Amino acid sequence: MKYFRGLTVILFIFTLSISGCTDMGDPLSGGSPGGGSTTISYSGDVQPIFDNACVSCHVTPPSPGAGDLDLTSYAGLTDPSGPNNAPEVIPGDADNSYFVKRLDGSIPPIMPVGGTLTPAEIDLIKEWINQGALDN
Ligand code: HEC
Repeated sequence: MKYFRGLTVILFIFTLSISGCTDMGDPLSGGSPGGGSTTISYSGDVQPIFDNACVSCHVTPPSPGAGDLDLTSYAGLTDPSGPNNAPEVIPGDADNSYFVKRLDGSIPPIMPVGGTLTPAEIDLIKEWINQGALDN
């Protein structure tokens, strides 16, 4: 009996030392970047959406047939002499940007024609505007 009790104690201590090692490992694994939003890039994230879905109509030079809006570049999107002589995007305020209202259809007709952008793509563009609509 004494032998078994001794073995139990040894096993108990062994278990403690393993969990001790696990605890010591925690600070090393705690480096994940939690919660912070990532910076959206115009050239890397936003322009590719336009290249894919918009530039077949929104060309350079801007065509009156496509709202006088050139979506081939940042300069075209933010051209102050563009459509309606009003800014398409208000940096930091996606919800009040005319551009976004045309994308979500709150001002019709929805763009692109047929409304083929995914909610994730629209959210990405909105997030870029809310981050200041930078030429990044
Ligand atoms: C099949 C052609 C076509 C495609 C593709 C297209 N558009 Fe348009 N777009 C138009 C036409 C035509 C107008 C002008 C008439 C109007 O305002 O509805 C226009 C107007 C707009 C306007 C309003 C400009 C203004 O201020 O008057 C916005 C904003 C716009 N488009 C955004 C987009 C975006 C963003 C995409 C791609 C995701 C896109 N469009 C794809 C044809 C197109």
